Amino acid sequence: MDFKRNILITGGAGFIGSHVVRLFVNKYPDYHIICLDKLTYAGNLANLKDIEDAPNYTFVKSDICDYETIQAVMLQHNIDGIIHLAAESHVDRSIKDPFTFARTNVMGTLSLLQAAKLYWESLPERYDGKLFYHISTDEVYGALELSHPEGIEPPFTTTASSGEHHLAYGTDFFYETTKYNPHSPYSASKASSDHFVRAFHDTYGMPTIVTNCSNNYGPYQFPEKLIPLFINNIRQRKPLPVYGKGENVRDWLYVVDHARAIDTIFHNGKPAETYNIGGFNEWKNIDLIKVMIKTVDRLLGNPEGYSDELITYVTDRAGHDLRYAIDSTKLKNELGWEPSLQFEEGIEKTVSWYLDNQAWLDNITSGEYERYYDDMYKNR
Ligand code: NAD
Ligand code: TYD
Repeated sequence: MDFKRNILITGGAGFIGSHVVRLFVNKYPDYHIICLDKLTYAGNLANLKDIEDAPNYTFVKSDICDYETIQAVMLQHNIDGIIHLAAESHVDRSIKDPFTFARTNVMGTLSLLQAAKLYWESLPERYDGKLFYHISTDEVYGALELSHPEGIEPPFTTTASSGEHHLAYGTDFFYETTKYNPHSPYSASKASSDHFVRAFHDTYGMPTIVTNCSNNYGPYQFPEKLIPLFINNIRQRKPLPVYGKGENVRDWLYVVDHARAIDTIFHNGKPAETYNIGGFNEWKNIDLIKVMIKTVDRLLGNPEGYSDELITYVTDRAGHDLRYAIDSTKLKNELGWEPSLQFEEGIEKTVSWYLDNQAWLDNITSGEYERYYDDMYKNR
């Protein structure tokens, strides 16, 4: 069958990638979606079970660093668009093993860029109708201060560049123009890959877009990240390891809204541009943890306050960034994207999903990961 477009989505078996693949396969039956993933501990084909038999979907198991295979995939499927999500994504792992992060996030991205460049430059129309869309994080910008106007305790209302008022823990946001200042090996590797992507635009004229998104939450997230880990631990009555004092602030976006933003930007974004994606939804970790405990207890029929005793303050993460907060006004003004879900609804849906999908959780947390987690936790 001849498809209108042939789109390579890397990291499609991971958390965000699986939502992007699902959205594109279902929404665009006339596109061929080629999902390429190494299936590391974080990649799981069970995340894509509902679309695996779709006629416009193909899965390729490969490492993005395997340059020959990437070249062959570009040619075999006549790829005209790439949405690149494959990455090592967990800050704690990057602190233990920075080399793997440099390999996948930097060298893997370079391998994709070079394969795309050679293939697209070999075609008569060259870069026309092509796009290399790189998914990055707000963590490349570093950390914001927990500053507040005198006499007002955070969270307080502050004004985004759109002129709208939002609750915030500081007076500033990350903008597309904010200088890169990564602190963790994870964010340093993502920053480096962002630079390579922009360099391929500036040097070779490749049409590229980079987006920097805030923390995502929702179904299919690997339970080493805060939200699924804590939901799972509450369910199992295991300790909840709060790093430091739990005062760090993150800006949370429901993953399906991120996938919607990626769809909008892939189709309507301007090549060479950067867009920040976020929901103006800042939470101090400890407050978010209390909401999760309350929601899990309520849904499991436990008395209120039943799981509060699981909160366990542990040694802080090394170099722990204090506050992330995205200003996504540009995306709203230029492309009309806004989050569709309020946080209260998103967290309710998320907790329900993990409680209803215990087999999925038990399956991916068994064996090697269980040993890794016990070891991480013992060392805190
Ligand atoms: P994830 O860890 O859940 O998934 C990563 C996927 O990449 C997995 O399926 C894994 O198997 C695959 N992968 C890893 N190394 C690979 C390699 N060498 N070759 C091929 N595939 C490989 O990550 P996620 O949370 O879904 O994040 C996806 C992307 O979005 C990443 O680039 C991340 O930096 C970015 N991002 C994540 C968040 C977040 O909150 N999770 C926020 C902003 C940006
Ligand atoms: P995480 O989900 O790892 O995302 P990121 O580090 O990319 O923001 O962590 C979110 C926040 O939760 C971060 O401030 C670290 C904190 N955290 C804990 O307090 N305990 C934990 O066990 C984990 C995994 C995270």
